[in-house]
Amino acid sequence: MTLAGTPRPRVGPELSELAIIEDGGMFVQSGTIVAVGRANEIAHQLPNDCEVVEARGRVVLPGFVDAHAHPVFGGNRVAEFEMRARGASYEEIAAAGGGIRSTVRLTRAASEDELLEQARHRVGQILRCGTTTMEAKSGYGLTTNDELKMLRVIRRLNETTALELVPTFLGAHAIAEEFEGRREDYVSFVVEEMIPRVVRQQLAEYCDIFCERGYFDGAAARRILGAAKAAGLKLRMHADQLTNSGGAALAAELGAVTADHLEQTEEDGIAAMRSAGVQPVLLPGSVYALGKTRYPKARAMIDAGLAVVLATDFNPGSSPTPSIPMVLSLAATQMKMTPAEGVTAATINAAHSLGRGDRIGSLEAGKLANFTVFDCEDYREIAYWFGVSLAESVHVRGMRVL
Ligand code: NIG
Ligand code: FE
Repeated sequence: MTLAGTPRPRVGPELSELAIIEDGGMFVQSGTIVAVGRANEIAHQLPNDCEVVEARGRVVLPGFVDAHAHPVFGGNRVAEFEMRARGASYEEIAAAGGGIRSTVRLTRAASEDELLEQARHRVGQILRCGTTTMEAKSGYGLTTNDELKMLRVIRRLNETTALELVPTFLGAHAIAEEFEGRREDYVSFVVEEMIPRVVRQQLAEYCDIFCERGYFDGAAARRILGAAKAAGLKLRMHADQLTNSGGAALAAELGAVTADHLEQTEEDGIAAMRSAGVQPVLLPGSVYALGKTRYPKARAMIDAGLAVVLATDFNPGSSPTPSIPMVLSLAATQMKMTPAEGVTAATINAAHSLGRGDRIGSLEAGKLANFTVFDCEDYREIAYWFGVSLAESVHVRGMRVL
């Protein structure tokens, strides 16, 4: 499965085009792909001393690109998981002081090194699922120092593990407890204090906001994302997750690269994303883990010509999974996306949404040799079997990392 062929994200029927090579082979040098084709054709081009990775009878895919994740956090939310099992909702738990704020307390209490250690452990789990690039958001600090601490952890993970991380500043994830009742002041604080510091220290590529009732409204999103854009950050946005607040249309208006979640988005939001070229990032893991039943309208988005992306939303509260294969399963069973559409959405389309469509997301000459060998004969099995990872070996820049 090469996913080769288009220099832009795939839309409509193109989502089903995986550019499969039967009995394929790949020649890699210095971490970069030199040639991809039939194994017998590639064989002529190889130098004598090259190392051979045998993948006969198995499936090789580009490393998954997970374009929405919160992999750095303190502790976990297993007690809330049990509360939801007993009938409480995510919104009720948050209103009672739990939710994002409970992870904020644990993240603030952890030192930079402790956070790094916890996250490093998760990186192993992420790679084991076949993911080689992951977007990583701050947003569990909510003070300048704690947000910078999280972003430094993301940078250190990037430098010291095989996983490539793409940093996103999410200071507007929730109103910090100290600013209770002073929502506007917190928005000003994010704009005036946090964004300049993050940008000066070059700790983020993107800025995100949780645009949702009880968190940040449209006016706050305009201020924060407007300031971030002016400071040189690209934009992503948590939109229309729990309520339809017109988030998708706002992402389009503000020039965001992606609008993420979109469980409540209707036709008007889809049309707005279409005209502005916003990529929808769908996160069915969070719908599943919150025990909800309303998934985003993936089929309508594909029919409208949107370059759909699938991601895990890996976080301790609403989506405790690092597994893209699990997301592909949910996409098929709950959103009626075929395995081929799912694979495209979690590789080449996701790579484009992170501004890396020219380097990763497909297996073609000139791109990084990030790939996974799966222990199955039919790629559809990757989405079909759930609760297991079929990844047999994972390779980043040509090196086997698992
Ligand atoms: O994408 N929606 C906001 N942020 C996360 C949840 C974070 C949390 O509950 O800790 C999400 O679902
Ligand atoms: Fe999220």
